[in-house]
Amino acid sequence: MLKRTHTCGELSEIDTEQTVVLNGWVNKWRDHGGLIFIDLRDRFGVTQIVFDPSVNKEIYLTAKKLRSEFVVAVKGKVEMRPDDSFNPSISTGKIEILAREIEVLNESKTPPFEISDNIDINEELGLTYRYLSLRRQKLQQNLILRSRLYQSVREYLTKNSFVEIETPVLMKSTPEGARDFLVPSRNYKGKFYALPQSPQTYKQLLMVAGFDRYFQIVKCFRDEDLRRDRQPEFTQIDMEMSFVDENDVMTIADGLIRKIFKDIHGIDISTPIKKMSFQQAFETYGNDKPDLRFDMQIRKLNNLFKQTDFQVFKDVLSQNGHIAGLAIPDGSELPRNRIDRLVEEAKNYGANGLAYMKYQKNEFSAGISKFISDVEKKNIREAFPLKENDLLIMVAGKYEMVYSVLGQLRLDLGQELKLSDNSQIRFIWIVDFPLLEFSDEENRYVARHHPFTSPKPDQIDLLSEKPQEVLARAYDLVLNGNEIAGGSIRINTRKMQRKMFEALKISKEEAENKFGFLMKALDFGAPPHGGIAFGLDRLAMILAGGDSIRDVIAFPKTSSGLSLMDQAPSEVDNVQLRELHLKIL
Ligand code: AMO
Repeated sequence: MLKRTHTCGELSEIDTEQTVVLNGWVNKWRDHGGLIFIDLRDRFGVTQIVFDPSVNKEIYLTAKKLRSEFVVAVKGKVEMRPDDSFNPSISTGKIEILAREIEVLNESKTPPFEISDNIDINEELGLTYRYLSLRRQKLQQNLILRSRLYQSVREYLTKNSFVEIETPVLMKSTPEGARDFLVPSRNYKGKFYALPQSPQTYKQLLMVAGFDRYFQIVKCFRDEDLRRDRQPEFTQIDMEMSFVDENDVMTIADGLIRKIFKDIHGIDISTPIKKMSFQQAFETYGNDKPDLRFDMQIRKLNNLFKQTDFQVFKDVLSQNGHIAGLAIPDGSELPRNRIDRLVEEAKNYGANGLAYMKYQKNEFSAGISKFISDVEKKNIREAFPLKENDLLIMVAGKYEMVYSVLGQLRLDLGQELKLSDNSQIRFIWIVDFPLLEFSDEENRYVARHHPFTSPKPDQIDLLSEKPQEVLARAYDLVLNGNEIAGGSIRINTRKMQRKMFEALKISKEEAENKFGFLMKALDFGAPPHGGIAFGLDRLAMILAGGDSIRDVIAFPKTSSGLSLMDQAPSEVDNVQLRELHLKIL
């Protein structure tokens, strides 16, 4: 085989007259009046090769038979292209190789789609032939960026005395929030391993062991409903630290973010990243992962309508409900049917209705304006403050519903009206989360983060009487509306851990059975500790400027959890099932 002397992205005018060998794939093939041109591609770039019959008839005839995606080795001389055929969009655009020898290393069937970034391919087809999708430059660049991200993370954390430690992938099933993926045991009939949803318990045990600072770039597995930013297996940058409080962990995470953005994009992120309480985020943006790239804040309007005669609002307030609103810039100019649809959308998100008023020439009109008093109008105008042509939308009802509906509408409208400047990078720490949330499904409180998260020390006594009021020592890092990391200071005594399980209505037996190994370890001098885990795929997605985590994962699953390329999950034969003591119902 003709072994390459250079890659396809390397040669330029300083290499002219050199004889070189390139190896790669035929990207494009053109017959131009007696000369054949191919663009030869590898992951480093593309170089133009010319086959001239007057130089060598035999290789010209071989070149005539080449097709897209054939794998070839070409030997030839580097020459300047004629001035009028420079291609400034590629680094090798000023030169070409005049071929003297060619070796076809392998042929290729016609691929099911063209290997080009400029062509949209059907998603299923792209996933079925993922190795061909991955020949596209954009996806290659994404995975190369991801590889640089690993290096950056490792460099920063090792420099900061973190030890990289691998934890088991076959572990005890201790479902935390999502369902576990289970692996049946052959040796122990009726018993199962689980794949980790995260290495949470192991990293705490490593702190008990005295490693002080641990990290791992680690696969996690969660059997949950998938979305744009979720995969059943995904990667975390998982960290844990001893003898720390919340600020120590957030400071290390700030530094990691600074390092990553500097290494990958040469951007200086200003730190410390600002903090916002969960309550403020919820009442201003309607969720716990605010997208700060555009303003349009929600305002609480309860006080403005205390004396109102508008029956709907009056009824809601008399039942301790809430009223809040948003001002949509230039919303008064939205067509009537768009406003009607907005009302429908609010209902779909769970509201009973959507009240609105137009604000033009200092006057309110349309919607509920005739039911609102002049004093109320004046107060509303000042509270926002409203601008000419704003459309004020308001939702009234239960607290959770009011803010979450407005939060959804805010995001939809922000996108529709292109309010957000997508070149911005807006980080925010969300802190002071409630420790627990009530699950209607399970009819008990569940941990908002996970059951090992410590309550705020001065609120521990509230845990039995007013569990809903207890705040957690937890923090999430949000980037442009995506939760990219979450963590907490942990419980480090058996007594406190038991109290937490009691609040979660997990019996002593169940706690012992599921988490006995952790509680036992807490009895042996567990240091105060805490940590955080970044969603590496989400971070890579944002760094790559994409909008789906699949674009930064080499072999992702579909939204229903299938791997189209190798057809996983698949059936297994009866022998395998029998060995595992399993029977399909
Ligand atoms: P948490 O469950 O918040 O915390 O996960 C941490 C981060 O992982 C990412 N993430 C996901 N990414 C892709 N697909 C998924 N299905 C998925 N689920 C989560 C998110 C999230 O912020 N053990 C704790 C961390 C700790 O307390 O230290 C944990 O796993 O970006």
